[in-house]
Amino acid sequence: MIEIVLIVAVADNGVIGAGGAIPWRLKSDMQRLRAMTIGRPVVMGRKTFLSLKRPLPHRTNIVVTRDGGFRAAGAVVTTSLDSAGNVARADALRRSVAEIAVEVSFGAGEELVRQGEPVARFLVLLAGRAEVRKGKNAVDVIGAGDFVGEIGLVSRSPATATVTALEPVQALAVTTLAFRALLRRVPSLTDRVLEALAARTAR
Ligand SMILES: NC(=O)c1ccc[n+]([C@@H]2O[C@H](COP(=O)([O-])OP(=O)(O)OC[C@H]3O[C@@H](n4cnc5c(N)ncnc54)[C@H](OP(=O)(O)O)[C@@H]3O)[C@@H](O)[C@H]2O)c1
Repeated sequence: MIEIVLIVAVADNGVIGAGGAIPWRLKSDMQRLRAMTIGRPVVMGRKTFLSLKRPLPHRTNIVVTRDGGFRAAGAVVTTSLDSAGNVARADALRRSVAEIAVEVSFGAGEELVRQGEPVARFLVLLAGRAEVRKGKNAVDVIGAGDFVGEIGLVSRSPATATVTALEPVQALAVTTLAFRALLRRVPSLTDRVLEALAARTAR
């Protein structure tokens, strides 16, 4: 589950800001904010963003404003809380995938998966084309954005096709164990993987 956390520092008298700034400076507040947000997307109002000396480092800074023309170096600008939430969720998902994925490359003629063999990893193609063969029949050519090995994500069945690089191919590789853990954290991904599986099976 992607969790949304609201963070606010509140004084004993309920004050959270005055005159466009926080009327105190506590190193421990800043350290706690950093520890809670590092490596994550952070959504903030335009005024809070402008009160920072620079965008919060090592985080995706997402700014909300009703001004469609507002631009902020080092931040993603959105014009509603809904779209800020969507940008933040996609960013969190991308970061989770990046944590468990490694980039791999295949030379022309190299097999990405072989029909009948166990599938230990899920591959998302980043560049290059590959041919999909079932038995002796070429059934498809896939490219950037397509993926192979999804069968291993939902079952322990062997690969249903052989996929061979037609030219140098770059791909992101995720072990099926790590991907199953990600599916447990982000259950909405399961539907998309199952849809892709159904579409593949129908071919
Ligand atoms: N104590 C704490 O933890 C803490 C943390 C952060 C900030 N603060 C303090 O809080 C104060 C800033 O608060 P603030 O409310 O004045 O500023 P803010 O929330 O940072 O920014 C307000 C601006 O955000 C945009 N905005 C807000 N809601 C929106 C929505 N639903 N859709 C689109 N845009 C939206 C609008 O920008 P446009 O005007 O451009 O349309 C609005 O003027 C400062 O004093 C700051 O120091 C305290």
